[in-house]
Amino acid sequence: MSSKNPILLSNCTADAISNAAAALQSGALVAFPTETVYGLGADATNESAVAHIYRVKGRPADHPLIVHIGQLSELDQWAIDIPDYAIDLARDYWPGPMTLILKRSTKAKDFITGGQASVGIRIPANPIALALLREFTDGIAAPSANRFGAISPTTAQAVKDEIGQYLNPKRDLILNGGPSLVGLESTIIECLEELPRILRPGAITAEMIEESTGLKIEHSKSQTRASGLLDTHYAPKAKVLLLDPINPVVSCIAGVGFIAAANHPTPDGAIRLASPNNDDEYARGLYEALREGDRKNLPAIYVIPPSGDGVAIAIRDRLQRASCEGGSLR
Ligand code: TXA
Ligand code: MG
Repeated sequence: MSSKNPILLSNCTADAISNAAAALQSGALVAFPTETVYGLGADATNESAVAHIYRVKGRPADHPLIVHIGQLSELDQWAIDIPDYAIDLARDYWPGPMTLILKRSTKAKDFITGGQASVGIRIPANPIALALLREFTDGIAAPSANRFGAISPTTAQAVKDEIGQYLNPKRDLILNGGPSLVGLESTIIECLEELPRILRPGAITAEMIEESTGLKIEHSKSQTRASGLLDTHYAPKAKVLLLDPINPVVSCIAGVGFIAAANHPTPDGAIRLASPNNDDEYARGLYEALREGDRKNLPAIYVIPPSGDGVAIAIRDRLQRASCEGGSLR
């Protein structure tokens, strides 16, 4: 282990969780596992700790952060005027891969909300994240633990590779909770008007939202800013090229990466990075597969996206952003 890099804790011990809660209390950063992706956490009430998140991520300071809480009873500390449909969603899908955008309380300061009047809140469904939240007893602000615009990490090693060199090895920590089970960032649902609106698709689908709330989703464009909504985001270094799922023409591709469901054969000369058997497996393995392409220094990664509904919509959303010209040429 290099003394320059932070220690990768072996995670689940009670001691590791207490140390991590104490680190947060002292203003340090703790990267921790969630079921979606790993987060880079700080005390959501500590302005200088939160400023440290922005430095480590290289993220513009006006981008809002999600506040993670441990239980539903903490929700009204952070949010006010919560619509009934948001309570339905919280009851049905928390802990889980869903972030609610709500009108902020005075506790949610500008340094969390990017100066907006709303705040993003989530209860993650991961035993280590929940144990940390229980021990810390207050909100943990946490974006995905990657550099701005890059792919979210779904393992502790990927966190270390992404941001290890920017963390302070004397104070900051990375908790290792194994690979994330969902593999894509949470569904973000704006709950500021009469109807819920999806700002970022994820494993909680439109159908699930309509089922829980009995309401139709609002499809008009939101005024809210969210960095996950930028055209270029979630991009690896390799150029990502999307193929038509019905007619995946692949030619001249010796030495490029290939990601597709197991039933698509590997084209001659391509390097297979993932062969998921279903959409959940596709979501779970996608970011590690893209990372593997970068570790192998592949110039390009050809991808056949899944074509269905459900989580496939979120997969296509992320792949679309990863394949934007600007992002893939960095
Ligand atoms: O699954 C997840 O959501 C992960 C894990 C760690 O919880 N977190 C995550 O955070 O993806 P981040 O910061 O990488 O992406 C959160 C997105 C950003 O695009 C941010 O702009 C948006 O949520 N967001 C946060 N608060 C918001 C608010 N008040 N209004 C609108 N968008 C907001
Ligand atoms: Mg992110």
